[in-house]
Amino acid sequence: MAENQKNEGQQHPDETTLAAESQQTKRSHNRTLRPESTTFEKFMLSGWGEEKNQVKPLESAAFTPARRSALGKKFPGQRLIIPAGQHKVRNDDCDYAFRPDSAFAYYTGLGQDYEAGAVLVLEPVEAGTAAGDGSPAQSETHQATLYAHPRSDQTTSDYYRSAAYGEYWVGARPGLKELAIMTGIPTADIADFDHDLAANVGTGDGHVDVRVIRNVDADITQEADKVRTAGGFGDAADISEKDDAFYQETSLQRMIKDSYEINEMRKAIAASKDGFTRMLAALPSALGKDRGERILEGEFNANAREEGNAEGYGTIVASGAHAPTLHWMRNTGKIESGDLLLIDAGVEVDSLYTADITRTFPTNGKFNDLQREMYQVVLDAQQAGFEAAKPGATYSVIHKECMRVLAQALHKWGILPVSVEESLSPQGQQHRRWHACGVAHHLGLDVHDCSQARFDDYQGAPLRPGMIFTIEPGLYFKDNDMLVPPEFRGVGIRIEDDVLMTEHGPEWLSIDIPKQIDDVEAWMADSAARQSSIRK
Ligand code: GLY
Ligand code: MN
Ligand code: MN
Repeated sequence: MAENQKNEGQQHPDETTLAAESQQTKRSHNRTLRPESTTFEKFMLSGWGEEKNQVKPLESAAFTPARRSALGKKFPGQRLIIPAGQHKVRNDDCDYAFRPDSAFAYYTGLGQDYEAGAVLVLEPVEAGTAAGDGSPAQSETHQATLYAHPRSDQTTSDYYRSAAYGEYWVGARPGLKELAIMTGIPTADIADFDHDLAANVGTGDGHVDVRVIRNVDADITQEADKVRTAGGFGDAADISEKDDAFYQETSLQRMIKDSYEINEMRKAIAASKDGFTRMLAALPSALGKDRGERILEGEFNANAREEGNAEGYGTIVASGAHAPTLHWMRNTGKIESGDLLLIDAGVEVDSLYTADITRTFPTNGKFNDLQREMYQVVLDAQQAGFEAAKPGATYSVIHKECMRVLAQALHKWGILPVSVEESLSPQGQQHRRWHACGVAHHLGLDVHDCSQARFDDYQGAPLRPGMIFTIEPGLYFKDNDMLVPPEFRGVGIRIEDDVLMTEHGPEWLSIDIPKQIDDVEAWMADSAARQSSIRK
């Protein structure tokens, strides 16, 4: 545990030395001329009325016990450490917006910016002792405890001294009592974490092993390694390998979404549609303007903050020759009338589930003949991937079916230098020059969800009800690609939708976001008309 966390605000200001101050205080000491006297402290900690900090149980709290139980069953007898992560410094005492690690969010049900420095611990219990207790924080194998920073309210000098947790700086936060109500998990002071992490770690009777998600909080990983080495748990490589298997398991468990998660995904998709509509409304006035792409990005991201937590990943607004750049996030381009405009954007809702949607628009509102032809190929490829996605089929079948349609079109256009079958063979793959990225991925708390799962559990695994994934074929012709006819150069098209696998087959979760050619053109006209009538 970072020393600075323990020390922060726990000493009297008069005793405080620079060395013992928090990182954040150190970082800001050049800038903040902070009164240090006892008189000031007493004055600051008095004269406040009651502060409202009401919380209620989160909807997710009804779903997280089953998730923790499933995880615990895979690691009986082991102490499981799932950190939220720490604030990430941007510079001086300014941090990036905090987002908890997705595994922490999944097993606690916490979203938004809850809660930097917190750690979920699943403590092993002896077989049979936990069952029947009835507490949602207990499973057959483990007892959950959420370690967190207590509130830094007006009863502690941290209130005004800590820019990270002090409520003078960051507003009322949920403390131990509030987090317990929200999550249904008993809470403990983070100051006790190091002690509790080290307790009984060893190989003998009555001792426990520890597993930690390693890449989230470096201090916790280091501390866990220290206690395990001292406890006789072999070399660092062995410990690290077992931790990686633990991390893989948490990723794998997220592949099948529960009904709460599916509902959150529906919200994220609905909010994303609103964001796209808002961009389309702004498009006519953004045409021809410097950084028109940024104008649209601003519209989407503003909506994401209004309707959700944030954008779920860097918004891509790629017009004209930017569109074949897969992750064009600089968004500095001018949008010219007559070009195609590829927009890949998703709203992350407060629970941190994100949509991932791409649409490609004709900037003047009407596809020309070639644009229409290319667009229809991508749409057909997506439909082929969707139709191949049946429960029990291997995940990678989506990729194969999308690729077949694209390769056939490239062949028909005379672009593919070999036959379709040769291109589709493992030794060929020439068509991938124009689609070098993946065509589908799991989606949920992370835009590329479940990414730690083993290849065999992901690409090689059967599609199962409850999985949510994208299907996102495209065609990407760079503007300096001398192997395609001039009229294809500088064109990028992607169509990306979010799909839920059900027992009866795949369901388009984003069916309400228009993508058929006529529907896209109508959506553009409608959004622009509504905007211009607002202006009048
Ligand atoms: N927006 C990133 C992706 O589509 O995978
Ligand atoms: Mn995607
Ligand atoms: Mn995307």
